[in-house]
Amino acid sequence: MEISQPAFEKYIFVCENERPDGRCCGRLGSEIRDLLKQIVRERGLARKIRVSRTGCLDVCQQGPNVLIMPDNIWYKQVTIHDVNRILDDALKGLSSHPKES
Ligand code: FES
Repeated sequence: MEISQPAFEKYIFVCENERPDGRCCGRLGSEIRDLLKQIVRERGLARKIRVSRTGCLDVCQQGPNVLIMPDNIWYKQVTIHDVNRILDDALKGLSSHPKES
C-alpha cells in the first residue's frame, strides 16, 4: 500500500445508486452529476474539483444525496436547481480559481 495526497482539492460525490424499492438517488443523481461536471468544465475548474458518482451513502430516503469532501458537507433532497449553490460551496477554500490551460 502507498499513501499519497489527493489528486484534486475538492471531490463532489453524487449518489447514483438504484434501489429496487425506488427510495434512491438514481436517475436524478445522474442528471445532477452530469450538470455539475458540465459547470466545473465551463468554469475551468476540472483540475481542482472532481465530480464523481458514488454508490449508496445510506441516507436513501433523503436523496438525491451529494457530498463535498474534504469539507464533509452533505446535501439532501438535491434538485437540478441546487447545483450552482453546491459548486459555489465547493469553491470555498480552493487555492485559486485559474482557468485551465
Ligand atoms: S441510494 Fe443514494 S443514498 Fe442510498
